[in-house]
Amino acid sequence: MFFEDDEDYGEERLVQSTKGEYDFEENVLRPKTLEAYVGQTKVKDNLKTFMDAAKQRGEVLEHVLLYGAPGLGKTTLAHIIANEMGGQLKLTSAPAIERSGDLAAILTNLNEGDVLFIDEIHRLNRSVEEILYSAMEDYALDIIVGKGPSARNIRFTLKKFTLIGATTRAGMISNPLRDRFGIICRLEMYTPEELKEIVLRSARALAIEIDDKAASEISRRSRGTPRIANRLLKRVRDFSTIKGNQKITCEDAKFALEKLEVDELGLDEVDRALLRAMAEKFDGRPVGLETLAATINEDAGTIEDVYEPYLLQLGFIARTPRGRIILRGGYEHLGLKMSEKQREQISLFDKDD
Ligand SMILES: Nc1ncnc2c1ncn2[C@@H]1O[C@H](COP(=O)(O)OP(=O)(O)OP(=O)(O)O)[C@@H](O)[C@H]1O
Ligand SMILES: [Mg+2]
Repeated sequence: MFFEDDEDYGEERLVQSTKGEYDFEENVLRPKTLEAYVGQTKVKDNLKTFMDAAKQRGEVLEHVLLYGAPGLGKTTLAHIIANEMGGQLKLTSAPAIERSGDLAAILTNLNEGDVLFIDEIHRLNRSVEEILYSAMEDYALDIIVGKGPSARNIRFTLKKFTLIGATTRAGMISNPLRDRFGIICRLEMYTPEELKEIVLRSARALAIEIDDKAASEISRRSRGTPRIANRLLKRVRDFSTIKGNQKITCEDAKFALEKLEVDELGLDEVDRALLRAMAEKFDGRPVGLETLAATINEDAGTIEDVYEPYLLQLGFIARTPRGRIILRGGYEHLGLKMSEKQREQISLFDKDD
């Protein structure tokens, strides 16, 4: 039921933010302390206060909900919290907990101060989620024994633990579950400066020599996401190694990234296909997520979680009540000139906004 962070994540894409097989060194690269965790200042400051206060009072930390796009550091933060609070970390994910009995078994095995991490917590099924309510609120497990009129409710007391839930879809968490988290943290995309610090830090950890400009180049193309920054660093290193270079230079980085078809903004062929479909196939009209997904042969959920956030952040696309629409920046990035009609579409949308 627990996993070691190493499941098979399916098909690979270099700048995908979800975890893939390129990321096998991920645990080595995870910062172990809050201090070493780059960026996310607001989240770090808050967590530090709550952790220090809990420690001073000799209490366990309140339950924490972490949300943010894939690869922004949710699992990493869970490790750090357990580490700083001195508890054991147990990792699991909602899809792995099929029945309420599975969760009951996990909960009864926790010791005081342990941290239970449930990934993709928005995917818990209802009966499992209901077990969690009393566990979170009263550290109690309510189990119904027997059936019909002779059914009885038995309550077990659990050790005091901290639940950390992680999700990429905050909107899909039910209100009763959300309300039981004392601490809610939203992770933001990282700035190029922060990503550069991460690249340099990871290079040290992996004994990779890299010059400053090369690190900047990689960080600019990492879509605000540490996981992608680490992955690009490793792929760029491969190109340098083949060339016989000891140290990754800026030219190496540029050459490699071009070969890898990651453009100056970190977009790859899937992003470009998405933009192109919106601009050409749908001629700049708003288009529904499902339609778009079918057109480029991608899963709608993946588009929403993985591709869209960065394109939205860049201002290349927008969400409108009638669907997704490509904006001026998107056309420009593709090197397309807008037609009169397309320009009109955008202005229509601007007025709506
Ligand atoms: N703030 C940070 N500072 C340094 N490295 C980081 C930071 N955040 C993430 N990383 C790096 O990025 C990698 C991916 O982070 P992590 O696995 O925590 O992401 P996640 O949010 O849990 O992603 P997912 O939604 O796919 O589970 C980590 O191995 C770590 O090396
Ligand atoms: Mg994770």
